[in-house]
Amino acid sequence: MLVSSSQRLTFSTEDAAAQTVADLILATIRDIAEPVLGLATGATMEPVYGHLVAAYKRGDVSFARCTTFNLDEYVGLPAEHPGSYRSTMNNLFFDHVDIDKSRTFLPDALQDPTDVIGEVYERKIEEAGGIDLQLLGIGRNGHIGFNEPGSAKDSRTRLVELHAETLEANARFFTDRPVPAYAVTMGIGTILAARQIVVLATGSGKADAVFHATNGNFDPACPASALLEHCNVKWVLDTAAARLKSAA
Ligand code: F6R
Repeated sequence: MLVSSSQRLTFSTEDAAAQTVADLILATIRDIAEPVLGLATGATMEPVYGHLVAAYKRGDVSFARCTTFNLDEYVGLPAEHPGSYRSTMNNLFFDHVDIDKSRTFLPDALQDPTDVIGEVYERKIEEAGGIDLQLLGIGRNGHIGFNEPGSAKDSRTRLVELHAETLEANARFFTDRPVPAYAVTMGIGTILAARQIVVLATGSGKADAVFHATNGNFDPACPASALLEHCNVKWVLDTAAARLKSAA
């Protein structure tokens, strides 16, 4: 049964969309005593972190009460590699604000055996009280986190193999080596357990995925369509990503 009550907010520029997402995060931090944020990486998110850092520098917010869980991490990359999502988050966000880094979590994708990584991460999220706001980008193939097409709707944090399209899209972040072929990602079920979800999609390259995700029912070929079944989702788009009309 669909219980979707998604909201679609469209802006004329990428930056206005990113500012809106930053404002939604800031509102959550102001409203909740110990906010738990689910964070995402990818080029789309860079201006969001820019706006959050700017808000901190203006004295508008403190991140000291926040706990964060990132969606995913590549397998086999040392944390200090510039392509790792730990490095990315430190460089874009954590190093510039007053967050307690010991409460910023990413899947520990260097841990062995890999099949326990997911359980450990799920337990940590549960112990923190669950995720208040989950930030998401969307892949051109409709992936959320690294839940590629074909992922189960009730999937949980686990090891996944990345699809060729995703490896190609992310090659721009790797100059010294190929993109790792495996990652650990929160599952679609983990994402759907968040109390609020905010998806940011910008640029015409995302229009098909946005259309597919927001029309009809859950289709395993477009993992983001699982969000139709969440009761509190905001799609924040620029006009290019929103150019195909949808029912959301
Ligand atoms: C990364 C992640 C991915 C990205 C998606 C879009 O943590 O969760 O699902 O959100 O691949 O990436 P960009 O923004 O680079 O197009």
